[in-house]
Amino acid sequence: MKLMKKFFSQTARPEGRLGKLMLSTMNSSHAALADWGMKYLPETDAGQVIDLGCGGGRNAGELLKKYPSAHVTAVDHSELSVRKSREYNSESIRQGRCTVIQSDIAGLGLDDSCFDIATAFETVYFWDTERCFAEVFRILKDGGYFLICNESDGTDRTAGQFEKIIDGMKLHTAEDLAGRLYQAGFAEVKGWHHHKKPWIAVLARKGERP
Ligand SMILES: C[S@@+](CC[C@H](N)C(=O)[O-])C[C@H]1O[C@@H](n2cnc3c(N)ncnc32)[C@H](O)[C@@H]1O
Repeated sequence: MKLMKKFFSQTARPEGRLGKLMLSTMNSSHAALADWGMKYLPETDAGQVIDLGCGGGRNAGELLKKYPSAHVTAVDHSELSVRKSREYNSESIRQGRCTVIQSDIAGLGLDDSCFDIATAFETVYFWDTERCFAEVFRILKDGGYFLICNESDGTDRTAGQFEKIIDGMKLHTAEDLAGRLYQAGFAEVKGWHHHKKPWIAVLARKGERP
C-alpha cells in the first residue's frame, strides 16, 4: 500500500526512480483523453500556445501539429517532466518552435497577455486553483482560451480512490471548475462530458462578459 501510494503520488510531481517509471507511461496513458479534449480547442491560427503541467511532453507535440504556425511553451514544476518533454520535442526545440520551462503554474514569470491558447491535461487536480487560474488569466491575450481536460468528472469511484491516497489531490466537477474560472475573471465557460467515460473538457474564454 505504501509503495502504491508512493508510485501514484508521482502523478503530482514525478521525481526519482518511481517518477521516471511513471513518466515512461504518462504519454501513452493520457493520449486518448488528450486527443478527445483537443477537439474542443478553437480552430484558429494561434501564434502562442502554452501547455501547463506538460508531463512527458506528448501533448505539447500534438499542439505543435494542431497549430502549425504556433510556438508552443510547455511548463512543469518537475525537473524530470521537463527533461522528458525536452527529449520528446527535441526536433521542434531545435527548429525554434518549442520551449520547455520548469516552473510552478502559480508563478510563471511570463509576460501579461502573450498567449492565444493555454491547455492543462490531467493536472489541475494538483493546482492551487485560485492562484493558478489567476496566473493563466493574466498570461492569456484578450479573446484567448484555456482548455482543461480531466479523466475524472469529479464523481467517478476510481478517481475517488486516487484522491484518497494521493496527498494534495483534489477532484473537480465541470461545474466546480467553471465557478473557479469565472471567479478568476474568465468571461465565458463551456463544458463537455465524454459519452461513455467520466472524462470532462472545460473551455474558458478571456474577454468581455456577454
Ligand atoms: C498527471 S501528470 C499529467 C501530465 C500531462 N499533462 C499528461 O496529460 O500526460 C501531471 C503533471 O502536472 C505537473 N504539475 C502538477 N502541479 C503543477 C504545478 N502547480 N505547476 C507545474 N506543474 C505541475 C506534474 O509535475 C506532472 O508532470
